[in-house]
Amino acid sequence: MPVAAVGGRRFLLLTHACFVGMLLRVSGSTLARAGLGGFCITSRIAPPSRPAVAAFLPTLPTGRRRRIHSASSSSSSSSSTSPNDGISPSAPSSEYTGTSTTRRRKRTGSGGPKLSRDFVGVAKATDTGRFRAYSAEQFIKGASGLPVTSKERPYFTVLGIETSCDDTGVAVVRSDGVILGEALASQYQIHEQWGGVVPGLARDAHASVIDSMVQEALSKAGLANAGEVDAIGVTVGPGLEICLRVGSETAKGLAEKYKKPFVAVHHLEAHCLMARLGQPLVEVEEEGLREEGGKEEGGVASTLPLARFPFLALLVSGGHCMILECGDVGRYRILGGTLDDALGEAYDKAARLLKVGSGAAGGPAMELLAREGNPKAVALPVPMKGKKNLNFSYAGLKNAFRMAVTRVRESQGGGEEGGEEGGELDHQTKADLAASFQNVAIQHLEDRLERAMKESEGRGIHTLAVVGGVAANQAIRTRLQALCEKRTVARKREIEKERAWVEEMEGGGEVTAATAAATAAAAVAEELPAWELVVPPPRLCTDNGVMVAWAAIEKLRLGYSDVLEGQDVHARWPFANLEKKKEEVEAVAGGGESRP
Ligand code: KG4
Ligand code: ZN
Repeated sequence: MPVAAVGGRRFLLLTHACFVGMLLRVSGSTLARAGLGGFCITSRIAPPSRPAVAAFLPTLPTGRRRRIHSASSSSSSSSSTSPNDGISPSAPSSEYTGTSTTRRRKRTGSGGPKLSRDFVGVAKATDTGRFRAYSAEQFIKGASGLPVTSKERPYFTVLGIETSCDDTGVAVVRSDGVILGEALASQYQIHEQWGGVVPGLARDAHASVIDSMVQEALSKAGLANAGEVDAIGVTVGPGLEICLRVGSETAKGLAEKYKKPFVAVHHLEAHCLMARLGQPLVEVEEEGLREEGGKEEGGVASTLPLARFPFLALLVSGGHCMILECGDVGRYRILGGTLDDALGEAYDKAARLLKVGSGAAGGPAMELLAREGNPKAVALPVPMKGKKNLNFSYAGLKNAFRMAVTRVRESQGGGEEGGEEGGELDHQTKADLAASFQNVAIQHLEDRLERAMKESEGRGIHTLAVVGGVAANQAIRTRLQALCEKRTVARKREIEKERAWVEEMEGGGEVTAATAAATAAAAVAEELPAWELVVPPPRLCTDNGVMVAWAAIEKLRLGYSDVLEGQDVHARWPFANLEKKKEEVEAVAGGGESRP
């Protein structure tokens, strides 16, 4: 621990660590999930005797899917890996002054009032609904202006800035999804020694590179200054307040100076919308702009599928682990969240136990190692097996993994210490452990997603997007691709079962409302296309400026921008529950203030 190493500063740091610990404890297990909100929606379970009828009734429009294109890319200025293991408990800085919280949390013990474990997504101990909710209901039509386009110049460009945690990302993206210029500065080396992100250091690192990152992205786009883009977007929450402020102040300054439309971006929404990067729009009379796929409408050809609304999203990163239904820009329904650790966090901690990679480099290191290992070598419990909801829990797996590492170390004569202090394991043993961890971690994703997919089919959804840093994992992509195929086949079987049941009933002379509904539902389900997996390219899964620019583009294309004046950052910014009525959303948002 750094605390031990600093001699005279020991007391100060211990005090600081306790203070941080207290903060983290007060905020419960969800500081990492600062942006989440809403209650989990329990799955509908089909009665065993007959297939679920209601599950097939669509309540949201489906659309024709076409393959269109995503953007070209340009190189980033540095590695996209970033430290990511929560706030460092041994934060060195007396500079960490704020009570700003983080989307990456560190659990420091039990405590705080016990609340329902079904309450997912906001800090259990502290969030009583007073945090401003994020919802399309609060969007304002062209509040700070809209980019001007014409027949000759149909696209506009946006400068996007991301500084919510430990990556300074800037990009210039065109409204058809083409990435014109991109720059990324990772703070990996700064935080590595502390075993987690140190907010004060992160803020200073953002501040020291932000201007050069902006310049680099603009130059790569062939632009002289921000006056040559059409709008500016920036992440204003959720995240580390003092870090968010660096990007937000820079973006506001540029928008002010060059009189550009300004868009306040929600970090989690930006991750989700990456599944749509390059989704083109067409003009539709009366309705204005609407998304439409296909080259023939002017989209850019792509080999990657793009998600069209509505779609299901698995958001897995260092601070988040959740399943959402994405209905439109600003309209999200949270189906499940994590009750404790996020998946990326669990990966990073497991990596630390095996002494491979540190911080956010842990996830990729574990993936590489797992490729050489036997996934069945070590028996680990699949979390929440049999629990019929859509929530996640990775703390149990993490602990079981720690115990497994201890056992193996003992058997290899490496001492009893199971933590990071324990002896070195041989390479194959590490690989087996990593593969076993990854296998079970993905199994948990599959269990939850299979249930969520079945439920979402009832709302006409047939696209699964996997977003966030962990989506860069190839093993996860492969397994979830197989899951999509499995669910498509299962749906066919369920339709057949449904039909057989109807025939049996009708054969017995029982033509009821139920059989009629079942017939209609089966017909609808039959029309649903196969499940399709959409995952952004790996380097765009982790935090970056492109996702911010693209999220701003999505909002601008619908005619919304944000007021510059009084614009602030939000360490917590939960998604409004879709079920909530507009008035409730406004009440939660505090009303009266002029922001989205
Ligand atoms: O989205 P992101 O950059 O930051 C957050 O918003 O948290 O995600 C970083 C997380 C880290 O926990 C990192 O270990 C994980 O994503 N990650 C991976 C892989 N690449 C990044 N986890 C598993 N396998 C990977 N290939
Ligand atoms: Zn992120």
